[in-house]
Amino acid sequence: MAGFSIDGVAIVTGAATSSAFDHALMSLTSSDSSVSASGIGKETAIAFAAEGAAAVVFADINLKGAQDAAEISRQLGKSSEYRALALKVDVGDAESVAGMVATVVEAFGRIDYSINCAGLVPETATTIPDADVRDLERLHRVHVVGMLNCIQEVGKVMKSQAPATVNGRYGPRASTIRGTIVNVSSMFGLCVGMGQMPYTVTKHAMIGLSKNAALDMAPHGVRVNTLVPGWVDTPMTSDVPGLAAARIRRSVEVCVPIARMATAEEIADVALFLASPRSSYMYGASVQVDGGLMLGPHRNRPGEEEEGSPMYSW
Ligand SMILES: NC(=O)c1ccc[n+]([C@@H]2O[C@H](COP(=O)([O-])OP(=O)(O)OC[C@H]3O[C@@H](n4cnc5c(N)ncnc54)[C@H](O)[C@@H]3O)[C@@H](O)[C@H]2O)c1
Repeated sequence: MAGFSIDGVAIVTGAATSSAFDHALMSLTSSDSSVSASGIGKETAIAFAAEGAAAVVFADINLKGAQDAAEISRQLGKSSEYRALALKVDVGDAESVAGMVATVVEAFGRIDYSINCAGLVPETATTIPDADVRDLERLHRVHVVGMLNCIQEVGKVMKSQAPATVNGRYGPRASTIRGTIVNVSSMFGLCVGMGQMPYTVTKHAMIGLSKNAALDMAPHGVRVNTLVPGWVDTPMTSDVPGLAAARIRRSVEVCVPIARMATAEEIADVALFLASPRSSYMYGASVQVDGGLMLGPHRNRPGEEEEGSPMYSW
């Protein structure tokens, strides 16, 4: 039993690439100083390839970005028979998700791991009195309905497929696991951010939905868990309305005990652990990966708080 013991077929939504990081990686030169952010879904999908998955599906509303990410994974896939497939999907559209799942089953015959990582941020940062319900509906459609669509369609496949044997150090473990699902929520699923109501409401809902799915799916041999990242250096955190990237970085330096954001790779490793046989006794857990941010009110450099910053609202 080495590494994450990953084999089989993975689907990752929100797996497109969009940054300079990826273009540097495609040419395998990382000396470019502009190289920085990379998406969590893309990095998780690549991690599956690098850890031995037989096939990885890069699913995103941005097909070109998904194709680019799939291409990167072909350079890094560990299995000699590794296959990557890029698909366009709108997770908020049940038909689109059903089509994606049918295509994957036709191509690979089963689905062992499903990572729900598609996400977006509100268009504006407005506090409750001025909040626009359409922004809430837009995020609800992707984060909550989108996640439900994916769990339902993937769950139907997983619960009807043959279980995979979970091998531990001392031989097979007493587990009947037909598939694993990891849902990516956020620290804003546990706390709130000023002016970020649509994001906090939908990220809270994702944790509830994920726990309910864990309970409902456990008897069918499907494990469901939730990943709860803190601040991660991705294209998303370069573009949060009302929170300029430089301001986020300053806040992170002051408020996160280890004074930096996570890389997408660090989050991807925990997603892989939750999906892998290594976590065979985990059902419905919400796992925080936040550099200690949620430990409680904290200032690395007291006195440097920026008045009015959402990061200082607790
Ligand atoms: N970056 C952070 O600090 C952070 C922290 C906690 C949680 N998260 C969550 O992690 C997930 C990934 O975020 P990221 O930071 O990698 O951002 P990202 O913008 O790099 O990735 C999000 C991806 O989702 C895709 N997407 C959006 N709407 C979609 C739809 N309807 N159907 C299919 N795909 C769609 C986008 O095209 C994009 O590729 C999100 O759910 C986000 O809320 C991010």
